[in-house]
Amino acid sequence: MPQTRGSNRKVLVLAGDGIGPEIMRQTLRVIEFFDHRHIASFEVTEGLVGGAALDEHGVPLTDETMAAAVASDAVLFGAVGGAKWDSLPFELRPERGILRLRKEMDLFANLRPAVVFDALADASSLKPELVAGLDLMIVRELTGGIYFGAPRGVETLPDGSRRGVNTEVYTEAEIERVVRVACDLARKRRARVCEVDKANVMESGGLWRDVAQRVRDADFRDVELSFMYADNCAMQLVRSPKQFDVIVTSNLFGDLLSDCAAMLTGSLGMLPSASLGQAGTDGRRRALYEPVHGSAPDIAGKDVANPLACILSFAMMLRYSFDMAEEAALVEDAVRRALALGVRTGDIIQSNTGRVSTRGMGDTVLRELEKAA
Ligand code: NAD
Ligand code: IPM
Ligand code: MN
Repeated sequence: MPQTRGSNRKVLVLAGDGIGPEIMRQTLRVIEFFDHRHIASFEVTEGLVGGAALDEHGVPLTDETMAAAVASDAVLFGAVGGAKWDSLPFELRPERGILRLRKEMDLFANLRPAVVFDALADASSLKPELVAGLDLMIVRELTGGIYFGAPRGVETLPDGSRRGVNTEVYTEAEIERVVRVACDLARKRRARVCEVDKANVMESGGLWRDVAQRVRDADFRDVELSFMYADNCAMQLVRSPKQFDVIVTSNLFGDLLSDCAAMLTGSLGMLPSASLGQAGTDGRRRALYEPVHGSAPDIAGKDVANPLACILSFAMMLRYSFDMAEEAALVEDAVRRALALGVRTGDIIQSNTGRVSTRGMGDTVLRELEKAA
């Protein structure tokens, strides 16, 4: 293992709400392990986001925390949201905290890998043979589309009734940069990209197809590009998910399809993600790492949540922000071995044996890391 001590790796940790702090606590233990073992050190700063920031400061993300995120090398994010804040005006809801981080850090490419660990093939709601060995990557556009398009809002019409508006908007440049990320990733995998849209009913979908084809023909002739409608893709993901290598799609379709892909892996609690900005000339890019799941209010505070999506998000940080593929594999292998031992949080359990708490799963991953490092 290379000795890469000497920290210029500034990590801002934003645990958030609900199960966020519980899963983050276990992930911080993994980060501390690297430090204690002198494998790599990280300068960790913790901040508030979502409901936690609202309770303290009256906003879901302060300007100071936003600035700290921009100044960091990477952000590690837990989850936000909860019933307590659901009646707040839209601009104050906890979810605005993560949306602001994505937008102001310009994190346009959200990588959501759905990988089935061998030990969990039985935990999927699909037949094991359909998901065993699955390794697909959803690249979700993250700073555009209907999440951010104008006009938006709810207006009152002359007759007193209300009209709600959101707008799907994409420029060619926005599509092109995320398609390039997908094609680059595909080159290191099985060299196949499927662009997913609703070009049959949405003009913006037609533009996605044009741009994807142009980018592929100009610079990625070694990559096979195909197209699929989003409704069919949702069906194909549960019919025959192994047909996919890389899926590239808009913000909203990527949100829906990645929750669907998560269940192929056994649980939403298993799916990590990386949200990346454009690489600069020095190869550095802004980045935020976040589990795909939310704050899971139904199980929060009970020490039963699965911390693996968050721990695997840290592994993605090692790989994509710090060029530490070997150390990332160390974490992923520890997770693989923990699962192979039969240790299970409630969301991935089949029989009642091997059930552990959030902390118990953290303990097992730490023990496996100790053995390997
Ligand atoms: P959710 O992802 O929080 O939960 C969906 C279901 O999956 C729940 O039954 C939950 O218990 C389960 N689950 C999720 N993560 C789990 C884990 N790690 N271990 C075990 N089980 C897990 O989605 P939701 O219930 O629709 O939303 C709850 C809140 O979270 C809402 O306020 C929503 O806006 C927010 N949310 C936040 C994010 C984020 O912060 N990135 C993502 C999605 C939803
Ligand atoms: C996700 C979440 C977020 C999204 C919410 C919390 C804003 O569902 O990261 O998948 O819709 O992007
Ligand atoms: Mn989502």
